[in-house]
Amino acid sequence: MSTKNIQDTLKPIVALAKRRGFVYPGSEIYGGFANTYSFGPYGVELKKNVKDLWWKTFVHERRDMVGLDGPILLHPKAWKASGHLEGFNDALIDCKACKGRFRCDHLIEETLQLNADGLSVQQMNDLVTKNKVKCPKCGAQDFTEARHFNLMFHTHMSKTGSDGDVAYLRPETAQAIFLDFRNITDTMRVRVPFGVGQIGKAFRNEITPGNFIFRVVEFEQMEIEYFIRENAWEKTFEAWLQDMHKWCKLIGLSPSRVHEKEHPKEQLSHYSKRTVDLVYDFPFGTSELYGLAYRTDFDLKRHAEFSGQNLEYTDPETREKFIPHVIEPTFGVERTVLALLCDAYDCETLENGEERTVLHFHPRIAPVKVAVFPLMKKEPLVEKAMHVFKKLQKLWLCEYDEGGAIGKRYRRQDELGTPFCLTIDFDTLENDTVTLRDRDSMKQERVPINQLIDLLSEKLI
Ligand code: GAP
Repeated sequence: MSTKNIQDTLKPIVALAKRRGFVYPGSEIYGGFANTYSFGPYGVELKKNVKDLWWKTFVHERRDMVGLDGPILLHPKAWKASGHLEGFNDALIDCKACKGRFRCDHLIEETLQLNADGLSVQQMNDLVTKNKVKCPKCGAQDFTEARHFNLMFHTHMSKTGSDGDVAYLRPETAQAIFLDFRNITDTMRVRVPFGVGQIGKAFRNEITPGNFIFRVVEFEQMEIEYFIRENAWEKTFEAWLQDMHKWCKLIGLSPSRVHEKEHPKEQLSHYSKRTVDLVYDFPFGTSELYGLAYRTDFDLKRHAEFSGQNLEYTDPETREKFIPHVIEPTFGVERTVLALLCDAYDCETLENGEERTVLHFHPRIAPVKVAVFPLMKKEPLVEKAMHVFKKLQKLWLCEYDEGGAIGKRYRRQDELGTPFCLTIDFDTLENDTVTLRDRDSMKQERVPINQLIDLLSEKLI
């Protein structure tokens, strides 16, 4: 078998994602809507498996964590306090000729092959003018001045629709956790160090083309704010970094494609004293998958200041009062799904020369766990297959398929990443055994029906 290079694979992955009901372009019947996508029937299962496993790993299986589901709309003052109203900007530049709009740092990086991180708007404008940068879309050399553009979507809360009623869709889930910090310490028996985990939607008005679901305007984050004493930040940071690597392995990402990228001091977000990204070798380049930041006591202090409320924590033994510091591991759901699709995708040439497209998902996150086929659409094979299917369906997401040649049915499940297929044939009627086919090796073994659940339970952990 030969395996094609991962660099060639985003286009076929996008095609497979649509063909097999993982990801559809948003509002397609209206010609699409930039950087939005729907997760189809298999995409939603994959996403759900990721989120459920994350919640189990980081909330249920730890004694130092609790969960929260905060609102998308927070009091507008929260975004002043967090620094997002002032500082959550991209510098945008427009081509006057074709009206194309670009992120100025990306334009500079692509056309001048310079790293534009940390440059001021003025410095970027100077670079564009001095180097006579041309529009990548139409070739004209006629740009507006670059200017700041806030990434937060806004809406209006009341009937008047006036500026005073403006509310923002959260650009990160994190702030909802800080706003409920006092509620959590008042109502739960948590003690520093402890963390709060949350999964939810975030919105960013991203204008740049997003490499499929890598950069979208509406996405989900799985975030943890982990509250500590200041002197524990370095060792807690290290521990979380290792836990994030473990998570990547747990969902089946190839460790050789996951790397760490330290943010240089001058590129840190306004709240961070140290940030390390876990980056992944996507087909379009190595880019941010997850982030780990030391947010210090910035957020709690600012919310205390802007709300006028006391957000100190009191140590239950010493009665010492202090504002905890925060380590924040953050995980994007869409980027996880994209990395999983890229990692799992393979187009193999089999020994007989046929091509096989397969998603080698880890059984833990595969949307469909088992597919059940009668060898032919004939009684009593159908009745027996339906009986097995109904038994397994109570435990796992299973599919029943009786249509077409068996080889085609296997190929369809390979493209969905289903780890196991079961075939009910004439021998089944004689001895109550089925054929269990492994997706990756394509090997088949005979298994007694009464041992199926135990065997699959072991394989699907
Ligand atoms: N609370 C910290 C925070 O929001 P971030 O690095 O801006 O940090 C966290 O975002 C994660 O959210 C990223 O590592 C990425 O996985 C995901 N993410 C950010 N912007 C995204 C976008 N436009 N589309 C999809 N995922 C995004």
